Amino acid sequence: MVTGGAGFIGSALVRKLIGHTNHCVLVLDALTYAGNLASLAPVALDSRYSFVKADIRDPAAVQDTIRNWKPDAIVHLAAESHVAHRRVILFFWPIRASSWNQICILSLSTAFSRAIASRRAGKFF
Ligand SMILES: NC(=O)c1ccc[n+]([C@@H]2O[C@H](COP(=O)([O-])OP(=O)(O)OC[C@H]3O[C@@H](n4cnc5c(N)ncnc54)[C@H](O)[C@@H]3O)[C@@H](O)[C@H]2O)c1
Repeated sequence: MVTGGAGFIGSALVRKLIGHTNHCVLVLDALTYAGNLASLAPVALDSRYSFVKADIRDPAAVQDTIRNWKPDAIVHLAAESHVAHRRVILFFWPIRASSWNQICILSLSTAFSRAIASRRAGKFF
């Protein structure tokens, strides 16, 4: 599972994984201003590629996705990385972006660790 898979780095990774490995790849992306499905067009018709539109700040959506798709690994690339996009006082931007990204990582890692714990207990959620 690749979060932010419709972004610059994520889409390059997804194209690489589909094109050069046998892995199945699930992209979870909210398609914000930075998300671009056109960058995933080369793999869009591949049977090993799937896409879920969801926001990683939404714990229920993340948990549902993990429960349904049972990923072996998560590459977390969803981020708010384009400083110039926002009309904010630049001094405060790093603080806001950093806390936003950390909340996302927390939400994602909580859902994934719950999934791993359930797996160890012999069930997946
Ligand atoms: N671009 C670079 O050169 C570069 C270099 C080194 C590290 N990185 C890091 O790689 C990561 C990705 O960078 P990028 O350039 O691909 O970013 P990007 O802005 O191009 O893509 C971010 C993706 O995350 C998605 N996204 C944003 N918020 C989301 C949310 N709440 N839920 C789900 N999806 C969401 C967007 O829709 C977009 O597809 C960042 O952590 C960045 O710091 C980037």
